[in-house]
Amino acid sequence: MPSITNLVWISVPLILAAIVYQLGFATIATALPEFLTLGILQGLIDETHCYASIKTLSSSQPQAECFTVSGGKFTKVYSDKTTAIDAVNGQTGHVIPGLWDGHGHLIQYGELLNSVNLFGAESMDEVQQRLVHYKNSRPELGTSQQWVRGVGWDQAKFDGRYPVASDLEIGDDFKDQYVMLDRVDIHCIWVSQKVLDLLPSPLPQVPGGEIPEKGVFCDNAMDIVMPYYPRPNKETKTKFIKDAMEELNKLGIVGMHDAGVLSADINLYEQLVNDEDWNVRVYAMLECGTRNTFCPDEARRFSTPNGKLHARSVKLFGDGALGSWGSAMIEPYRDKPESSGSLLVNASTLSDVTKDWATAGFQVNIHAIGDLANRNAIDAFLGTLNLLCPEISPRQCQKQNRFRIEHSQIIHPDDQIRMFEFGIIPSIQPTHATSDMPYAESRLGKKRTKEEAYLMRSLLKLNPVLGSDFPVEPANVFEGIYAAVTRRSPHTGLNSTGGTDGWYPAETLTLQQALIGFTANPAYASFLEGKAGVIQTGAYADWVVLDEPLDTTDVESLRKVTVKETWVAGKRVYKRPEAEDLPPHGSSESG
Ligand SMILES: *[C@@H]1O[C@H](CO)[C@@H](O)[C@H](O)[C@H]1NC(C)=O
Ligand SMILES: *[C@@H]1O[C@H](CO)[C@@H](O)[C@H](O)[C@H]1NC(C)=O
Ligand SMILES: [Zn+2]
Repeated sequence: MPSITNLVWISVPLILAAIVYQLGFATIATALPEFLTLGILQGLIDETHCYASIKTLSSSQPQAECFTVSGGKFTKVYSDKTTAIDAVNGQTGHVIPGLWDGHGHLIQYGELLNSVNLFGAESMDEVQQRLVHYKNSRPELGTSQQWVRGVGWDQAKFDGRYPVASDLEIGDDFKDQYVMLDRVDIHCIWVSQKVLDLLPSPLPQVPGGEIPEKGVFCDNAMDIVMPYYPRPNKETKTKFIKDAMEELNKLGIVGMHDAGVLSADINLYEQLVNDEDWNVRVYAMLECGTRNTFCPDEARRFSTPNGKLHARSVKLFGDGALGSWGSAMIEPYRDKPESSGSLLVNASTLSDVTKDWATAGFQVNIHAIGDLANRNAIDAFLGTLNLLCPEISPRQCQKQNRFRIEHSQIIHPDDQIRMFEFGIIPSIQPTHATSDMPYAESRLGKKRTKEEAYLMRSLLKLNPVLGSDFPVEPANVFEGIYAAVTRRSPHTGLNSTGGTDGWYPAETLTLQQALIGFTANPAYASFLEGKAGVIQTGAYADWVVLDEPLDTTDVESLRKVTVKETWVAGKRVYKRPEAEDLPPHGSSESG
């Protein structure tokens, strides 16, 4: 089915009305200078769009058939086509509000799109083959100035042993290269001998860091290598950003919370934010040049007039990840009893830094995976709320500050109660649950897994923000929704033993709850409630067009949903190519 354009003209300002109706949209758009048309199209002209159905997620008017857009915002929503205009062309497609990813990494996602993808490589052989193949296509890489970058390896696929530097001397086609490859959770890097040769000898000891093998550096130990990594320059970063946005738009994503951005990168964002291809709204969490510090000189609070960049929050880091036994636990790991992980910052420093930032007017978002890190984050938040608002209750104070725990992955029952009491916002990645389900229980044991780990429904009252943590997981929101609704892998549709029961299915969400987690909840958690993640008057005119209404899409199809069109600020930023408009089982699709 060829798709039909959704542009329907209803009203235009008086001066333009006659010309537009005479010449038509295309003519006038090309007849006027670009700066003028842009201003006019985004600023002055009302456009009304009608669809087969519109799910608004607005409580006052949940369903609609048309809306009017002006100046990049919704200016009117009509429950009924006939009230919108006399003769509206029948529009195909079913609309939902534009999707938000509540926790991702924009530049790193673009970097992934420009590096060797090791996700899903099942063996060292496969990793090496992918490296050789990639290097053949990008022969300019591998020098001291342009390292081969990659992400997605997992030692679990190498018979459980960590890789070593010499594994990156693969053969005549791939040797003496500068290589740095991120582990699947981005908490470890694996580097080649050429990179090791740059480092001091002996290697320094770093608290909160581990060097499990020659060539692998985890958590804070990555800081030993990073000073030698030739940072992508501004041009390269700009390409990463634009590539990332283009890809996100294809997935129906109109906004994202960028979970840790250096101030220089926020400045770069600001320079680019008015470009025509800046089509994802970014809520940037500042990360100080030195992690877990108070760096007011690097910090600014601002929103750009076009609503496409917002900065008023900071990211702190409590601990590492479960996969590498880096998350900080109250009790030792079940499968590594000598270890309970490690904190990246002690409780008193975390509290002090949280207080400093909150006092300076910033939202504080703390990365916490293990139950000890989550406990410390909650302690830091409560201490800060008491300090900030002596006059009102901590719960009220939290409504103003909206402190968040990024990941909220393993939370002791006592601390869950405290989160409820004070309304601490959990920021959760449903696909982390389904990616970690094969090994989580061996790390944690049954009791801790059941009571503490990867909770979703249990935390629902806290309006959890959902996200993917891209590039750690694929950015596809529909995979995230599927993982939340089924607690099964969105890649296979199955659980970790190949069956069809969800993993701890008591923690599943409904489709509606999951959708709220990718729209209204991230809006609230970024102080954009009423503006983002909803179709209502005054909100950003961001929406997604699907082939079917989401509510009647069967669960198994959810993970394969593709987006027909994505619109940001009233402008269409993605349209699925016609060829892919074929039915899902069309002959053009290969297995
Ligand atoms: C916490 O860490 C800071 C900075 O590393 C250090 O100065 C302080 O003594 C530590 N506090 C405790 C209680 O260990
Ligand atoms: C996977 O699902 C099957 C039912 O199809 C069930 O018997 C099995 O216990 C499940 N495995 C896990 C790890 O939940
Ligand atoms: Zn992250």
